[in-house]
Amino acid sequence: MSPDLYRGDNTEPYSKMGASIVPFYRPFPYLFAQFTRGNFSKLNVLDYGAGRGRLERLARLMGVDHLTEVDTSPTMLSASRKIRSARAVVGDTLPFPDASYDVVLSFATWVDIHNPDELVNYCKEAGRVLKPGGVMIAGTATPRSYQIETKSFNSDFPENQNLKSGSWAKVVVKPFTKPVYDTVWSDEDHKRVIKAANFNLVETVEIFEGRDPIWLIYVAVKGELDLIAERQALFRSARDLS
Ligand SMILES: C[S@@+](CC[C@H](N)C(=O)[O-])C[C@H]1O[C@@H](n2cnc3c(N)ncnc32)[C@H](O)[C@@H]1O
Repeated sequence: MSPDLYRGDNTEPYSKMGASIVPFYRPFPYLFAQFTRGNFSKLNVLDYGAGRGRLERLARLMGVDHLTEVDTSPTMLSASRKIRSARAVVGDTLPFPDASYDVVLSFATWVDIHNPDELVNYCKEAGRVLKPGGVMIAGTATPRSYQIETKSFNSDFPENQNLKSGSWAKVVVKPFTKPVYDTVWSDEDHKRVIKAANFNLVETVEIFEGRDPIWLIYVAVKGELDLIAERQALFRSARDLS
């Protein structure tokens, strides 16, 4: 299991990351609406690696009533200003029965998992707790994001220039100066993990900074795709009404 990276100096920078993180979360409401049945208040949603609860705010605004948040770091969970019903999980197994959620959200969590088998296990757990036809929406960073400087963070360091998938990357979150370290995974490895956990990848959204995508959001479905085709047809017909 990954160590609690957030126990020490990492909590503050990551929980206070500023303006340039925003585009990463912007496609979330659209994807959530497109790949669920739209009756948000009835959905059972799990935020797996919830941190300080950024997605909770978005999900609640969309009308999600049943949201469970879990995280391996009690420090990150308590970084939020308000008290949430978030749960600290210990170990690699989620304390929930099989097929109990409609949607699993996973944002900026894969970069905290350094071991490829653990990453597969994390996605398998997401798949186990999802109902058949359930959806995992997983956002993560690209290797390119660890070679640039943006308004909120700097990763433009010589030691980040030849990163391989699975390496540590140095990140300085502004205005802090002490670096934090993420694990870089390639798009191929993300897709391999999604497949190894028996998901079907149905959509990949790229979020650009300049000419390169620096964040990716994968939408992956547990089991048969006909349910998804049905949901997307609904979404298309709603769009065609306008
Ligand atoms: C960079 S934070 C992102 C938090 C939040 N999802 C967001 O978008 O703001 C990553 C979080 O994933 C948590 N995490 C890492 N590995 C995990 C695991 N195996 N299970 C649950 N949470 C995990 C960390 O403790 C941390 O709070």
